[in-house]
Amino acid sequence: MRERFVVEGLAGKKTLKGDLPVRGAKNAALKFLAASVLFEDELVFENVPDIEDVRRMGELLEKAGAQVITQGNTVRIVPPQKWQSSLDITIAKRMRASIVMTGPMLARVGEVSFPYPGGCVLGERPIDLFLSGFEALGATVEEQGEIFYVRAKGGRLQGAPIFFPFVSVGATETMMYAATLADGETILENAAMEPEIVAQAEMLNACGAHIKGMGTPTIHIEGTGGMPLRANGMTFTVVPDRLEAGSFLILATLAGEDVTIQHCEPNHLRALTELLEHAGVSLEIGTDTIRVRGEDAPLTSVSVRTHEYPGFPTDLQAPMAVFLTQCQGEATILETIYDGRFRYAEDLARTGADMTVMNPHRVLIRGPRKLTHAKLESPDIRAGLAYLIAAAIAEGTSTVDNAYLIDRGYERIEERLQAVGLSIRRESEQ
Ligand code: EPU
Repeated sequence: MRERFVVEGLAGKKTLKGDLPVRGAKNAALKFLAASVLFEDELVFENVPDIEDVRRMGELLEKAGAQVITQGNTVRIVPPQKWQSSLDITIAKRMRASIVMTGPMLARVGEVSFPYPGGCVLGERPIDLFLSGFEALGATVEEQGEIFYVRAKGGRLQGAPIFFPFVSVGATETMMYAATLADGETILENAAMEPEIVAQAEMLNACGAHIKGMGTPTIHIEGTGGMPLRANGMTFTVVPDRLEAGSFLILATLAGEDVTIQHCEPNHLRALTELLEHAGVSLEIGTDTIRVRGEDAPLTSVSVRTHEYPGFPTDLQAPMAVFLTQCQGEATILETIYDGRFRYAEDLARTGADMTVMNPHRVLIRGPRKLTHAKLESPDIRAGLAYLIAAAIAEGTSTVDNAYLIDRGYERIEERLQAVGLSIRRESEQ
């Protein structure tokens, strides 16, 4: 049954009060789960967000033979004697992150087959870097119908230098995983530097991998020569979700009287906090908290350019667009990662936002504008949360259809927003 959120807008008043706790990062948890294929013993993860995408990744592991036991935010993975190396087609087609499991599977079993992965529609999302990376590590790639078959020669990957022509989070993670059990050294150049990648590399290193340089553009991996990793009873905690924290921060600046974002990692949010401060927002940044006390000082527009980490995250550009509707002046958002990520602009324009899509990579926003209620439908996970923010500051009652997409990325979002005083409820779509 399809569900939607109904939000009573605050009509621009800043009344939200209390704590907004941030959960573990979706994009770290999904990759931690995928990495479990590299292990020969049980793995336990804590602070795993209880969201749709994590459940799907758990199912993908179960289909491959693992036991996945979830208790609240703790997930235990018991590996099978023998992994089933064909990824489940239905699940893999629904979720882009499924492709990250191909690296560990190829490294561990010597072969993997998978369909072209699905996921949010954000423009073209090719997989060429994955295929050429596997070939560089000595595997063969064959495409039959909709399925890719990748086989390591002699069952084992060979370390190699890999230069990525552009930065890709998923390709960096997948090649890092694949190289972990290979023979010899792999050097990944122009690698992604996301904190989630650093967390993954640290986890692998604690269990027998030899990875250096994570968090920089050059990652060195000395393969274990086929030896699987061992957790030896250690548990691993998923890093806080910087995208959820960033969205909460934007909501708090626009609608908060006194809101504290909790359990976050402010250092991972510098690109956003710097821009908000330039726009005139005062933030009280603690070790793992950010407090925002509603002020009536006018906000000034700031232009945004999305960029790989540590630059401004593409996943925060839709929430940032809502922020800019409340700022004095004109600003542009330049989207450099995807070529189809302004589908939200038309919907937001119906709330009264003044937005002009100049081309597939640039949107112009003029503010401040009073937003009014509208019937909205999430086009992707991150824009879905941006719609909830727009609905929260608008005047009147808005609906945000397709709650499923928001649930893919955010754990029971309505409960946390209700706790700071937002009137939001979930109901069946009629
Ligand atoms: N790309 C290629 N060829 C490839 C791989 C990527 O052309 O083989 C392109 C993509 O089409 C895109 C760009 O490279 O234009 C960057 O994509 P990247 O591979 O970095 O993205 P991803 O790994 O598929 C992750 C996040 C996304 C986030 C991007 C960028 C996960 C599960 N997803 O995707 O998050 O937008 O990095 O930071 O980690 C989300 O969480 O809602 C989400 C979409």
